[in-house]
Amino acid sequence: MKCRICGQPASINLRSHKTAFCETDFLHFFERRVRTTIRKYRLVGKDDRPVVAVSGGKDSLSLWYLLSRMGIAADGIYVDLGIGDYSRVSLEKIKAVADRLGRKVFIFHVRDIFQMGIGEVARAIRRVPCSACGMIKRYVMNRVCMDRGYNLLLTGHNLDDEAAALFGNVLYWKKEYLWRKDIVLEEKEGHLSRKAKPFFLCSEREVAAYAIISGIDYIYEECPFSKGAKTLTYKGILGRLEESSPGTKLMFIKGYLNELRQMKMHDEAAGEAKEVIYCETCGYPTLGGQCGFCWTLKKLGLSYRVEFEEYG
Ligand code: AMP
Ligand code: FES
Ligand code: ZN
Repeated sequence: MKCRICGQPASINLRSHKTAFCETDFLHFFERRVRTTIRKYRLVGKDDRPVVAVSGGKDSLSLWYLLSRMGIAADGIYVDLGIGDYSRVSLEKIKAVADRLGRKVFIFHVRDIFQMGIGEVARAIRRVPCSACGMIKRYVMNRVCMDRGYNLLLTGHNLDDEAAALFGNVLYWKKEYLWRKDIVLEEKEGHLSRKAKPFFLCSEREVAAYAIISGIDYIYEECPFSKGAKTLTYKGILGRLEESSPGTKLMFIKGYLNELRQMKMHDEAAGEAKEVIYCETCGYPTLGGQCGFCWTLKKLGLSYRVEFEEYG
């Protein structure tokens, strides 16, 4: 197979786009697509002060690198969950990219604040690790924006993650989650920063190829508490669908985004803004009383404290 652009032997075949590229032309193709997504959905504006949530994995490190190549300077935020070597090695990879880009990273150490790792925090509040972890990460990432003057949080969520999550939500009609995912979520001034996912339409395979070709060293291991068998099963099913009908995943997610846009426009026109309640301790959105983060600290007998180590 030959590269569509230069005719040299291709190194990556993208069946969902019915095309193949050599390494150099793949990089241009991938970066052009992300740039188009950013413009189309207005993810990053010229006055934004973005921060990238970096986990040490291929998605977030590639995003950080790509933004820098596009001239979008962003610092990073890492939530160190205190999971032994996994968290330590992740941080090493992040620091290497921070050095390469000349950017700063804010590091939140779960063990410093909670006096235990995420597994023990989860046990103490009777939640599964991923749920406690998600709650703390969302909180801390937002906090760094509010406290340090960033107005936009960018994450590396990719097409495969989003399609698998959507598939699960549709399969079980989890309406409370179904329409909450979006490529961009608006801010709530003084409470929540804007959030955006520039890789929403990029497959895991494309992002991995981008990382490898760009010489980004990332952590291959998944978190030991990883996501559970269900997400992997959904990814497997969607992978087989993609095999027989290339482009299915992208169609699924683009169709969802179109539906969501129309629903949001309809809600706006009908003036159906949902009322939001804020945490009485810290001001973060909650279902009532204290938010999950403040409630967890209280449950552990600790007072409210959020601190960041700064690297770079
Ligand atoms: P995941 O839910 O693990 O697939 O991660 C989705 C995105 O969330 C990643 O691409 C990162 O942008 C962000 N993220 C995940 N874990 C962390 C972490 N420990 N610290 C900072 N950002 C993270
Ligand atoms: Fe969430 Fe491991 S428990 S990343
Ligand atoms: Zn709170």
